Amino acid sequence: MVGKIYGTGSYVPPRVMDNDDLAKIVDTNDEWIRERTGIGRRHIIEEETTSYMAGQAAMKAVEMSGIDPAEIDLILLATSSSETVFPCAACEVQKAIGAVNAAGYDMNAACTGFVLAFNTAQAYISAGFCRTALVIGADSMSNLVDWTDRGTCILFGDGAGAVLLRAEEGEPVYMEAHSDGAKGAALTGLSRHRKGWTGAQEDKESYIHMDGQGVFKFAVRKVPEIIEEVLAKADMSLDEIDYFVLHQANRRIIEAVAKRLKTDISKFPMNLEEYANTSAATVPILLDEMNRKGMFRKGQKIMLSGFGAGLTWAASLFQW
Ligand code: ACO
Repeated sequence: MVGKIYGTGSYVPPRVMDNDDLAKIVDTNDEWIRERTGIGRRHIIEEETTSYMAGQAAMKAVEMSGIDPAEIDLILLATSSSETVFPCAACEVQKAIGAVNAAGYDMNAACTGFVLAFNTAQAYISAGFCRTALVIGADSMSNLVDWTDRGTCILFGDGAGAVLLRAEEGEPVYMEAHSDGAKGAALTGLSRHRKGWTGAQEDKESYIHMDGQGVFKFAVRKVPEIIEEVLAKADMSLDEIDYFVLHQANRRIIEAVAKRLKTDISKFPMNLEEYANTSAATVPILLDEMNRKGMFRKGQKIMLSGFGAGLTWAASLFQW
């Protein structure tokens, strides 16, 4: 059994912050941001929370699928920016959509989270542990960035995306995942917390710190490698893939990956000009947009790949 996508959904906050708005906060400009990243705008939460956005995206996926929420067995929610440590955001979504029979939990692998959650749900389904799974990626990056650091605050946005999977007979899903904790310092998001039993407040702030060029080189090297690994497992060639749906961090990363794979950039859809990097949400938001535009045909081969803090990277190859 494999998990077939029966529905997709996404949500971004209505409040838009474009590059000119950012230039009023930090010393930057539209030309620099577009040239280095491809980003033009980002959507930023006001009153919304991560679990609210996740619930909205989930409702749309469930609505498209036509499946009764009571039939959902599993909710996996990839996030690194839930408004609460517990209850987990997946349980908040369960409540919001009335998925009363589902088990739910959150997964944190930063920008790689959605692809790992998708693969985990596929593993549950192929093992026969569940029939209907809701997989969500949702992040409020605007709560994690340092709005005085022009090197990072320009890169991120907020949003959520979801897919509803149902078990069916079909071609296998091929997947791969890696981590390199030794390189974790390249991208960190520390949160303020108490120092164990001493009760002392540690002076760490929940800001993102990033070695931009290090992360860039990591992505450009590791994403093509993992795509080749998955293709080897599937005994398929690059030209059999219809779309490469990659984590939307930066246009230049995606262009460099396409070039390394000697594959036309038209097979690498992008929407980061509108949303920037919404971390775990980028892949499912893009999947939802493509789906609603009617870009998918039954039998098409789709390669997902996520990469980010950890460092972590993952890929998944499935047939629509
Ligand atoms: N506006 C204007 N100038 C800026 C800005 C800004 N927002 N940010 C940095 N600069 C300046 C720097 O201060 C530096 O100036 P200097 O030469 O006078 O010292 C100059 O621009 C070049 O800075 P670099 O950091 O070398 O710029 P680079 O070309 O590496 O681009 C960037 C930076 C866009 C972050 C790039 O390294 C990158 O894309 N890295 C990938 C990281 C990424 O996408 N992370 C997302 C999160 S992780 C993930 O999702 C996988």
